[in-house]
Amino acid sequence: MVASSSPSLSVELNGLKLKNPIIAASGTFGYGLEYAPLGDLGKLGGIVTKGLSMWEEKGNPPPRICETPAGMLNSIGLDNIGIENFITEKLPQLIRYDTAFIVNIWGRETDDYIKAAERLDEAKGIAALEVNISCPNIKKGGITFGTDPSVTFKLVQAVRKRTALPLLVKLTPNVTDIILIARSAEDAGANALSLINTLLGMEIDVSTRRPSLANITGGLSGPAIRPVALQMVYQTAKKVNIPLVGVGGISSVADVIKFMLAGASAVQIGTANFFDPTICWRLVDELEEYLRNDNISDVNQLVGAMREE
Ligand SMILES: Cc1cc2nc3c(=O)[nH]c(=O)nc-3n(C[C@H](O)[C@H](O)[C@H](O)COP(=O)(O)O)c2cc1C
Repeated sequence: MVASSSPSLSVELNGLKLKNPIIAASGTFGYGLEYAPLGDLGKLGGIVTKGLSMWEEKGNPPPRICETPAGMLNSIGLDNIGIENFITEKLPQLIRYDTAFIVNIWGRETDDYIKAAERLDEAKGIAALEVNISCPNIKKGGITFGTDPSVTFKLVQAVRKRTALPLLVKLTPNVTDIILIARSAEDAGANALSLINTLLGMEIDVSTRRPSLANITGGLSGPAIRPVALQMVYQTAKKVNIPLVGVGGISSVADVIKFMLAGASAVQIGTANFFDPTICWRLVDELEEYLRNDNISDVNQLVGAMREE
């Protein structure tokens, strides 16, 4: 059978429709506008904003990034302009582009997440929220909500009640069993799960005997973590019934396909944006080309299609 000349790239994440499965990951694509000079944002499947809180956040002191083999460590600490400034300054410009804007939210207390969800629910032009319960770089909040299944359940349930927007819950790999957390988020009403956030790590500068990051520890990302992320997507896909968004080290169309074969319905591109700023656009073209060359008429046919026999 010959596939149609234009294979279908659109995917649906349990209430969130995307024109293609390529999404820019939180914290690596600014608020979206920063990348507008590089290509048509409307071509991308979606854009996840930098993690936003109800207040303006300065983040951690520098140095807060360092290079590592096949990756990087960051301890940004969720530096952001605050939800109110995002709504007044960024959103009116963003909604000119026909892509799915997903707002990544975080807080120190449950109430911070609730307020964020309520405020963003009133704003126009937001396609979904991504609830970050997985940042390793803040002292309170973030990851502490994502390492205990009952805490995850309560937080996601509380946020679920406050917004009609589709909820993606972003999971941390820094746990013993990610499936327990994934199931809790699903039971609490998450529409989809994004996995993974960064892996805890650290580096020391031997010449100064100081840690390479002022925060001492940080989050490892980039190609170095890809096999870990792939395995977590694969394991989780077998155990939950909601769609998964694969994140972690993706830097080529082959990587995109791997995550989809392992069970992801869409993917996010993070660190690769730093060394290849137009990669998201290229991946859309290359994914379409791959499907056409392989006579695959619909990208959804790849999801979970890894051969195991
Ligand atoms: C500099 C930097 C900042 C990040 N900021 C956020 C953030 O604000 N919220 C969030 O949920 N994830 C954040 N992340 C995590 C990424 O979205 C992604 O989950 C992680 O880096 C793994 O994907 P990658 O290997 O493709 O970068 C950040 C990552 C980096 C490198």
